[in-house]
Amino acid sequence: MEETAPAFAFLPPEWADEATSTNDVLKSRLAGGAPPASGAVFAARRQTKGKGRLGNAWLSAEGGDLTFSFLWKGGVSLAGAGALPLACGLAVRDFLGEQGVDARCKWPNDVFVGDAKICGILIEGGAVADGGLALVAGIGVNVRRHSGRDAVIGRATATLEDCLGRVDAPEALLPPLLRFLALRITAWQRGGFAALRRDMDAALWGRGKPVRARTPGGTVDGVVAGLGENGELLVETEGGGVVSVQSLAALDGVYSGNP
Ligand code: BTN
Repeated sequence: MEETAPAFAFLPPEWADEATSTNDVLKSRLAGGAPPASGAVFAARRQTKGKGRLGNAWLSAEGGDLTFSFLWKGGVSLAGAGALPLACGLAVRDFLGEQGVDARCKWPNDVFVGDAKICGILIEGGAVADGGLALVAGIGVNVRRHSGRDAVIGRATATLEDCLGRVDAPEALLPPLLRFLALRITAWQRGGFAALRRDMDAALWGRGKPVRARTPGGTVDGVVAGLGENGELLVETEGGGVVSVQSLAALDGVYSGNP
C-alpha cells in the first residue's frame, strides 16, 4: 500500500449470456496459460452455479440480476487484503446511495438495506508464485424480485426493484458501480484500511449485535465491537476479551503469472 500507487482502473467489461460462476471463470483463466490482467471484468446475465461464501449458493434471476467478477493483482499480505471486500462493500453502498438507497455494510462481505441482504461479495484467489496476490472479487447485486431468493440465500433479501420500484438492466448498472469500485480500491491501494476506516465505521451494520464468526480455529461467539487496523472484525466475547477475526483467513490457489 503506497500513497503514490497509481489509480486502480478497470478494463472494458466482458459480458456473457450465461456462465457457471463468474468467479470460477476468472479463476480458471488465472490458472491458464494467458492469465488476464488486473482490472479484468467478467459479467454474466445468468449464472448456473453462482456461489457465495462458506459453500453457500447464490441465485441470479435470469436476465435480472447484476453478477460479475473482477481481478485485482498486487503486492499485499493476506491480512492487508482483508480490506478489499470492505472497499467493495463501501463502493456498493456508494452506488446504492447515489440512487437514494440507504445501505450498510455487514462485515465482511454483505450489503444490507435494513436487515435484508441486497448484495453479496465473494473474494477468492491466491498467491502469485513470484510474489503478491491475485484476487478474484465477485459481486452479486439483487436487482429483480424472485420468489425463491430468500430460500436460496438463507436469509431475508432485498432487491433494487423493492427499493426503487423499477428494474434497470444489469448492463446499465455495471458502469456506475465500477466507477465507485475504482475510487474505493484506489483509496485502499494508497492508504490501506486507514483510508476507508471513517466511512466503514459509519457504514458498519450490526455494531453491538450478537455475532458468530467462523474462523479456521473454530467459531467465536460475542458481540460486534468494531474493526481492527486492517479491517478485521473485533468480537467482544462473554468473558470481556476481544477476538480479532480476519476476513480472508486463507486463499485457495497459487498462480504462476506476474502480480
Ligand atoms: C455471499 O454473500 O456469500 C457472496 C455472494 C457472491 C455472489 C457473487 S455473484 C458474482 C460472483 N460469482 C459467484 O459465483 N459468486 C459471486
